[in-house]
Amino acid sequence: MGKAELRTYGRTKGRTLKPRRARLLEARLPQIGLPAGRFDPGALAPSAREIWLEVGFGGGEHLAAQAARRPDALVLGAEPFVNGVAALLARIESLRLENVRLHPGDARALTGRLPDATLDRIFILFPDPWPKTRHWKRRLIEPGFLDEAARTLKSGGRVRFATDWADYANWALARFLEHGAFRWTAERAADWRAPPIDHVTTRYQEKALGDCAPVWLEFVRT
Ligand SMILES: C[S@@+](CC[C@H](N)C(=O)[O-])C[C@H]1O[C@@H](n2cnc3c(N)ncnc32)[C@H](O)[C@@H]1O
Repeated sequence: MGKAELRTYGRTKGRTLKPRRARLLEARLPQIGLPAGRFDPGALAPSAREIWLEVGFGGGEHLAAQAARRPDALVLGAEPFVNGVAALLARIESLRLENVRLHPGDARALTGRLPDATLDRIFILFPDPWPKTRHWKRRLIEPGFLDEAARTLKSGGRVRFATDWADYANWALARFLEHGAFRWTAERAADWRAPPIDHVTTRYQEKALGDCAPVWLEFVRT
């Protein structure tokens, strides 16, 4: 991570894990955890046609469903909430997924280890909104993170951002557009109002904790 990056997430631990999930964390995470230090994800899965990253996968519903649909893609996930990591490991096991690799921590520590122009897609779905003005500095979407997203995406690679906080939607849109490396793909209101056709709804999304209907922003790395 770069200089003194502020924490963009809340708690890292929830309820005590059930024994099966605790066992999965202990046994399975070391097998599918990403290597420490710089690495080339392409070398981890030479037959993968695309490499995707989900930042803050929460309980992993979206990540697991996307990975199941697209066995030809290697799907990387980063999430510091240990109960979320354990929940995703349980999904990986029950769906027998072989194309997922995880970083149980801050996504910014992962992107910094990736070579340039590696990723085909980045998903940032319902990131912590930090709605109070004094917390805005904790929002994930800021120029330093967007620099890393731009660096690690291939030209033509895509980012999907979703939020149900109106102010964060405006904030994120302004920062993506100001950055200069991203083109917003929307051509009509329905493009940001309706969920993308390949989206998978999560339990967190269903709680609808924000102050507006979800806003879907899709960008292409120019
Ligand atoms: C509000 S939840 C949404 C979870 C999930 N994306 C969904 O839609 O169900 C936001 C998640 O992002 C994670 N998060 C926040 N900052 C992060 C970061 N820098 N790197 C990785 N995950 C992060 C949090 O731990 C939390 O689980």
